[in-house]
Amino acid sequence: MEREKAAGEIKRLRNEIDRHNYLYYVEARPVISDFEFDKLLERLVELESRFPDLITPDSPSLRVGGEVTKEFSSVRHREPMLSLANTYSQGEVVDFYKRLGKLLKDEGVEEREMVAELKFDGVAVSLIYRDGLLVRGATRGDGIRGDDITVNLRTIGTIPLRLDSGLIAGLQGEAREIEVRGEVFIRKDDFERLNEGRLEEDRFANSRNATAGTLKLQDSAEVAHRSLTFVAYFLKGIADENTSHLDRLLMLEKLGFYTGGHYRICPDLEAVERFIGEWSEKRWKLPYETDGVVLKLNAVRLWERIGSTSKSPRWAIAYKYPAQQAETELLGVVFQVGRLGTITPVAELQPVRLAGSTVSRSTLHNFDEIDRLGVQLHDRVVIEKSGEVIPKIIRVLPEHRTLFSERIQVPSICPSCGTPLVKPAGEVSWYCPNEEGCPAQIKGRILHFASRNAMDIRSLGSALVDQLVGSGLVRDPGDLYSLDLQQIAQLDRMGEKSAQNLLGALDESRKRSYERMLYALGIRHVGQATARELARAYPLFDDLQQADEASLALVPDIGPVVAQSIVEYFSRQYWRETIRKLIDAGLSFRAAEPEKPVNRNFEGITVMFTGELERYGRNQASELVLKRGGKVAGSASRKTTLVVAGKGAGTKLEKARKLGIKEIGEEEFETML
Ligand code: IVH
Repeated sequence: MEREKAAGEIKRLRNEIDRHNYLYYVEARPVISDFEFDKLLERLVELESRFPDLITPDSPSLRVGGEVTKEFSSVRHREPMLSLANTYSQGEVVDFYKRLGKLLKDEGVEEREMVAELKFDGVAVSLIYRDGLLVRGATRGDGIRGDDITVNLRTIGTIPLRLDSGLIAGLQGEAREIEVRGEVFIRKDDFERLNEGRLEEDRFANSRNATAGTLKLQDSAEVAHRSLTFVAYFLKGIADENTSHLDRLLMLEKLGFYTGGHYRICPDLEAVERFIGEWSEKRWKLPYETDGVVLKLNAVRLWERIGSTSKSPRWAIAYKYPAQQAETELLGVVFQVGRLGTITPVAELQPVRLAGSTVSRSTLHNFDEIDRLGVQLHDRVVIEKSGEVIPKIIRVLPEHRTLFSERIQVPSICPSCGTPLVKPAGEVSWYCPNEEGCPAQIKGRILHFASRNAMDIRSLGSALVDQLVGSGLVRDPGDLYSLDLQQIAQLDRMGEKSAQNLLGALDESRKRSYERMLYALGIRHVGQATARELARAYPLFDDLQQADEASLALVPDIGPVVAQSIVEYFSRQYWRETIRKLIDAGLSFRAAEPEKPVNRNFEGITVMFTGELERYGRNQASELVLKRGGKVAGSASRKTTLVVAGKGAGTKLEKARKLGIKEIGEEEFETML
């Protein structure tokens, strides 16, 4: 296809995709299926990969992600990102309202109209649009400087990549920029889906943690998968001081932002209290988490006159709903055996409604926790949910204790295999020492091996693993790869088709990277980050297996405890055999060759960056050069062949000029890419 025709189709596809995005996210009335939408996006990605020079920074293809960032650069906010004064007391909301009235009176103003909004429980971010184009997205950081996470934010469907030029023409003033602030969060259903695919120990405790963790991921394609949502609550830096906050919210919607829609003008205190009262129950029915209500003075022109403290403005306040509590009875305690043999007591409760759902279980963490609470079987207890998925028992109601109360006994033998439990000195947990034969541990290990961040064998669920381990077909992860169709098909609820699927998924998993395989092995204390470091330090598995504690401890982030755990792991016959089977199955036991370059446009060129680039963080720009065969220098020397100068370049640029090094700007740099 020639370039011109492709350009036409790309343009058409982009318009179409943007329109469907808007219908889906903002209006919540999609008119095509997800499948059809993905097809459009796929076609766009394909065309753009054939004509990379046609990629623009507002192409919806960027929402698919794929760019890998080593480290986020730090950027300075145009205006400090303040936080809000928080309160749990409605009395303090009244005080705030009265104080504001007084401040306004001192300014000779009678009006005190407030806008009440929901308080979204997520992570605050700032977006900068220059001439309508999203050029930067950053976290709040310390309020003055945050991390540039533009690549990750671009993957969020509710963040427009370009704004209507007609609409912003009058807004952006001389700086030609507008700033939108808001909150990124994960909807309840998306959060559940995210946690579902994870092992208990890898689950996020709440959606805010999940959001914060996701925004800092270095792989934007993974960010794209996790379905984040952005809700806008501030339009800043716009030319007309007289537009009220409400007008700005409406303007944000017109520009294509999602605001949640549940804000309301409150002309007086009663209206504020009504809003708070109404949402205290209604919020459980929302598709996302809210932990309170935010009140803002509607008249933006007065904000500056009222002013701020160093942390928060005086014209706004956040009211937080108290943590939800309920009373119920502790019916029993079951003891779970983890993949590393740890015994965890779990409370079984008389089902009770709490924070919009029915609760029948809660974790007790460990036996010290049981002592600390002084809780006994059949006690009445208070449970609390404070932003966490799993509620906690926070105290016992001793006045309700009856003759039926019974002490909770630490089991003396493993509930799964009957082996006497041990408690290593200095630890709070009890363990089952039967590492090789305990079905619960084997099952946990297989599930860990197959989990999303490890080998990602999707069709290997808990019920199936139960059967595979129970029937003796699988004793360690290595056995998975010698299963045959007949063996699987004969299991309960399996049949030929599902067996075929499992074999396909196992086959697929052979392609997983070396570092994922290292993580999948389930060595105590070796999480994903450590596995990555190990893979880097020991590109050949043999070298890792033979390393002693002293040399392992030289690897970044690895201390003596982790080093010891690794050495001990490889000394066990059971694991040596497992590894032998995995090697025979063709899994990867060496680090991959360095990535293939995207192109060779920077071959033989050593680039130095100076000043601030608008569209790329420093690390991101360096990465782009490296991926195109070039090198990056931190300062100008005779080896430097090209200088890319951004805003505010200073002494480094002068030095480069003296050395006669070729100098280009951001636009030219982009063309070279
Ligand atoms: S306004 C200068 N509005 O809550 C005030 N914040 O506890 C800036 N938040 O840092 C914030 N929902 O991250 C505002 N409707 C809303 C909000 C909201 C959630 C967050 C925000 C802020 C924190 C303060």
